[in-house]
Amino acid sequence: MKRMYVVQCLVLFSFFTRTEQIITVLGSGYVGLVTGACLAKLNKNKDIRIICADIDATKINLLQKGEVPIYEPGLKELISEQVQRGSLSFSHDIPTAIKEADTIFIAVGTPTQKNGDVNLSYVESCLDTIAMHMSTPKTIVIKSTVPIGSCRKIHSFFASRHIQPDAYRVIFNPEFLREGTAITDFLNPDRIVVGVTSPADAQPLQELYSQLIMKNVPFIVTDLETAEIIKYASNNFLALKLSFINEIANICEATGANIKQVSHAIGLDQRIGPYFLKTGPGYGGSCLPKDSKALSTIAKKLGIKLRTVNAAIKANKHQKRIVFKKLKQLLEGNLSNKTVTILGVAFKANTDDIRYSPAIPLIKKLLQYGVQVKVYDPAAMDNMKLQFPTVAYCNSAEDALQESDAIVLLTDWEEFKELAIKLTHNRHQKIIVDPRHMLPETGTCQ
Ligand code: UGA
Repeated sequence: MKRMYVVQCLVLFSFFTRTEQIITVLGSGYVGLVTGACLAKLNKNKDIRIICADIDATKINLLQKGEVPIYEPGLKELISEQVQRGSLSFSHDIPTAIKEADTIFIAVGTPTQKNGDVNLSYVESCLDTIAMHMSTPKTIVIKSTVPIGSCRKIHSFFASRHIQPDAYRVIFNPEFLREGTAITDFLNPDRIVVGVTSPADAQPLQELYSQLIMKNVPFIVTDLETAEIIKYASNNFLALKLSFINEIANICEATGANIKQVSHAIGLDQRIGPYFLKTGPGYGGSCLPKDSKALSTIAKKLGIKLRTVNAAIKANKHQKRIVFKKLKQLLEGNLSNKTVTILGVAFKANTDDIRYSPAIPLIKKLLQYGVQVKVYDPAAMDNMKLQFPTVAYCNSAEDALQESDAIVLLTDWEEFKELAIKLTHNRHQKIIVDPRHMLPETGTCQ
């Protein structure tokens, strides 16, 4: 008994006297890698080392070789800079990465299940491994988007593992990163939200984000549930705004009004704001569709019908069908011997992510109707090939445009904006469908 006490004291002594802090980020996807690399950069003057860990050995091997498994502008360069400084490393050895860490960020996926529930198995598996391997006090930071009440349940989970409450603290620190601009978003956030069990628990994150707090970025400390709702409410509000403007665009099209001017003018009203008013083929990505479905299901379980969010989900589903309907109408219903070029299959520009991309239902439908589909995307073709191996993937937009009957400008990549100008001047009677309004005003979309 006495010996055990001495060992415990030594462990605690070394924990409190060691100056180097180790932060382990579990999950090396979009959020985990950006979080790890940006935290290393923000804390470059401190004795802090970040380990990005993942159970996927292939991914870790790539990262150790200096490759980045996802396309995110600036990420490769930032990672390489931080690795060279010795403040960032990658590991497949999760138990050691947990044992060494003072702070553990959990940044693993929380996909939607078929019944609308959030699949928390990856988060649970992280907590399970932490419980198994923690030998010193830990700050556990949940970055993954989790249903309201999930973070508080961690206390009962650890209690069931006989881990004392003073051996850990739980923080929910949601991310507000857009794929494609994630690094800028991390380093210049509108706010930092920190959900805690008691206000003093926020201190480690106050330290980690001190550079941003000094630049007057609001640091908002709430209870766990409030922070969980802030994350869902943010993404759901964006989903509502997008579904709304897409419906207004449909009215504009039917009446000949100009949606760009409508968006611009309403966005100048400070109560509305200029962002998220660009119309498109329906929002996609891993977050807005997933989080609207999740919040709707959470509310339903609470006996609350989330009418606004449900309407946004429905409107978005409809929006994704409009491009196909338009193509069918312009090709006069005669699709089977036609070739259609899709420019852009990523759910938006500057990413290789195709999750919930409007391109998926469109390609599916075109193939069902016997259409020859040609695709070009600067970054997302490899991902799309896994889903639609039979489609023709082209080396350039120009290649994809050869011998096709209709063009869909589906993703707003910068290079397509330039191409749209050329297409306007040189249309050769080609059918162009332009749900993101990339064509200059003179050649407005079909
Ligand atoms: C979204 C949120 O913007 C982030 O704040 C949040 O952290 C993230 O989800 C998440 O929860 O992880 P993201 O899905 O990367 O980020 O992309 P957005 O830029 O929000 O775009 C979502 C969809 O809306 C895309 O399909 C995009 O094309 C569409 N969109 C966006 C428009 O159609 N018009 C706009 O004006 C803006």
